[in-house]
Amino acid sequence: MNTRAMAAGHSSWQICPRCGRELPLSFAKSQCPTCAGLLEARHRPPSVQGRELQELFARRRQAGEGLDSSGVWRYREIVLPDAESDIVTHPEGNTPLLKRDPVSRWTGIEELWLKHEGHNPTGSFKDRGMTVGVTQAKRVGARAIACASTGNTSASLAAYGALARIPALVFVPAGQVAAGKLAQTLAYGAKTLLVRGDFDACFALVREASERLNIYLLNSVNPYRLEGQKTIVFEALEQLGWEPPDWIVLPAGNLGNTSAFGKALREARDLGLIPRLPRLAAVQAEGANPFARSFREGFSRRHRVKAETAATAIRIGDPASHDRAVEAIQMTDGIVTDVTDDEILEAKAVVDGSGAGCEPASAASVAGARKLVGQGVIRATDRVVAILTGHILKDPGLLLRYHQETDPPPPRANRPVEIEPTLSAVEEVLGERR
Ligand code: F0G
Repeated sequence: MNTRAMAAGHSSWQICPRCGRELPLSFAKSQCPTCAGLLEARHRPPSVQGRELQELFARRRQAGEGLDSSGVWRYREIVLPDAESDIVTHPEGNTPLLKRDPVSRWTGIEELWLKHEGHNPTGSFKDRGMTVGVTQAKRVGARAIACASTGNTSASLAAYGALARIPALVFVPAGQVAAGKLAQTLAYGAKTLLVRGDFDACFALVREASERLNIYLLNSVNPYRLEGQKTIVFEALEQLGWEPPDWIVLPAGNLGNTSAFGKALREARDLGLIPRLPRLAAVQAEGANPFARSFREGFSRRHRVKAETAATAIRIGDPASHDRAVEAIQMTDGIVTDVTDDEILEAKAVVDGSGAGCEPASAASVAGARKLVGQGVIRATDRVVAILTGHILKDPGLLLRYHQETDPPPPRANRPVEIEPTLSAVEEVLGERR
C-alpha cells in the first residue's frame, strides 16, 4: 500500500486502520489520537519476495548467528526493519513443531502438529512479542514499561525489562495468577502490583496509569508486540516448507495473538510466501467466551462477560483486540468456539501424558480441535497446527490439585504413593510381593 510515510522513505510507520491516520514509528502510544482506534505497524515491503524471501530466511536459519539465532529477528524485514543496534533479544523463538500420537488419536486428526511456544525463554509465546516491544521501548527512550497480565506477559515483560535495564511495572489480579508466572515476575525484578480485581480491571488501570505517568504500555494493544507474535506463524509455515496447513488452532483471551496471526497470514500471502490462507480457529474457555458469543451472532455485537475459568491465562471478559481479531477470523474464513474447563483439563492431561506438556490455557487449542472434529468442521484428514502457548510448569498448583488432591480422582489422575523406605514397600506398590 502506498502511503505518505513510505513515499517519504521511512522503513516503518504506524497507521490507524479505523480512520486512516498515519503516525511515525516513534509515536509511543497504542491508540490513535484522532479516533482512539488501535494502531497497526507497517513496513516498507522487503526488496525480495516469494521464493527469494523464503531462501533468505532459510539461509539465516542455517547460519543461526547473531540476530539470526532468534526465531523472531530472522524475519526482521517483516517484523521491524532497521532496529539492529537497539535490539533486545534473549534470543527467543525457534520452537519445535511436534507430532504426538496420543494427541493425534485423542483429537481424531492424523496430521496434527503442536507448535510448542512453551519452549521460549520465559516459557510462553509472549517472548516473541516482548523482544520487539521492548526493543521499541528502548528506541523511543521509555523511562519505564508496564503491562496488565494474567501472568505470562508479566513474566516476559519482567525478563526483557531486566535485559534492557528498563524498570518494569506489572498489574496482576491478586490471587488469580499461576504460581510459576508470579514467581518468575518477582524473580526477574519487576515491580509487581497485586490488584484487588480481575484482569479487565488491571488492564483499565494500567492504561490509565501509563497515560498519566508517561510509562510505555506493553500489552498486546501495542502494535510492536503483535509484530513479534506474527513470527509464530512465519516459523510454523517455514517448518512446514511454506505449505500452509488447513487450520491453525489457538487459545484466545485478550485476542492479541488472534490479531497477530491474521496479520501474519495476510502478509505471508501478499508477499508470496504462501499460496493460500489456512483457516484460523480461536478457542475460548466457556466461562470466558465473549468472542465466541460474538461469533455465534455473526459478530453483530461485541460481548463482555464476567470471566471464570481454571485456565487463568485466558480468564478475560472484555478482550482489548476484539475488532482486529474479528477481521482475522473473517479474512481466513475462520471460526471461534469455546470448551468447558473439564474439556481443557482432559486435553491437558493428554498433552502432558504424551510427554509434550503445556499449561491449561494452551490445552484449549487441543480441546477445541477435538470439538471441531466432533462437529465435522475440521476433517480427520485435514492438516492442523495447534498452538501450545505456555509451558507445563507455569501452573504447578493446578497440576498438583488434578493429580494429587481432587477427590474422586479425575480419570487421568496419576496419584503418587507414599511408602516406607523399604524394598518390600516398593514391591507391594508394583504388585510383585510374593
Ligand atoms: N495462552 C496463554 C498461555 C496466555 O498466557 C494467553 C494470554 C493466551 C493464551 C491468550 O492470548 O490474550 O493474545 O488472546 N495471556 C495474557 C497475559 C493475557 O497476560 O499473559 P491472547
